[in-house]
Amino acid sequence: MSDLQKKHAGEAAAAHVEAGMVVGLGTGSTAAWFVKALAARNLPDLRCVPTSERTADLARELGLTLSTLEDTPKIDLTVDGADEIGPGLALIKGGGAALLREKLVWEASARCICIADAAKVVPALGTFPLPIEVVAFGHKTTANRIADVLADHDIASPARVREAERGLIRTDGGNLIYDAACKLIADPARLAADLKSLTGVVEHGLFLDLTDLAIIGTDDGFETLAP
Ligand code: 5RP
Repeated sequence: MSDLQKKHAGEAAAAHVEAGMVVGLGTGSTAAWFVKALAARNLPDLRCVPTSERTADLARELGLTLSTLEDTPKIDLTVDGADEIGPGLALIKGGGAALLREKLVWEASARCICIADAAKVVPALGTFPLPIEVVAFGHKTTANRIADVLADHDIASPARVREAERGLIRTDGGNLIYDAACKLIADPARLAADLKSLTGVVEHGLFLDLTDLAIIGTDDGFETLAP
């Protein structure tokens, strides 16, 4: 993981923003570089929709004008990081527990750019544990149902609830995150549909057919990938 590569990707993405746009702001260390580079451009009439309280705090500190999906339901461009970038620019996201708001903002966007360091590009999805956002009520029951779905996809290990020293991690929406160590996701579209069909699963971190461009930071610049 290279912070310099993340910085290069974030700065390159900021060049895609034009005055007057509504911009979705992703979450994570790479997205933070984008937010900083965007603020430094000082473009007039931007409105920014953050995907987490963390990103909102950073954007506010840097003087960006914040909006919400309620006030600006159509977003021109969203820029966000990823945990894995697979074939066809299929992504795993949610390492920062912001996947639900991220997906809501991505799906409301005319264009989405994924920014990442080079280590995020993989030949197949699944090495990074797949985050799954689950409502707290009855979460162990939901976890059992998730395990059944995973088994049906030849994924033997059950998903684990994400916790820190202070207890279970809560998302900005008050939900829990389960991480599924898939190793290999052979059919991301089928797994996405099967997880989404479970009552209690709010969202999962598979972002499929949503990325228009990936900007991959390198040590001395960046490269782009199209789907
Ligand atoms: C947060 C995310 C992040 O975009 C993802 O975890 C990548 O983070 P980073 O840029 O810090 O490597 O999906 O929910």
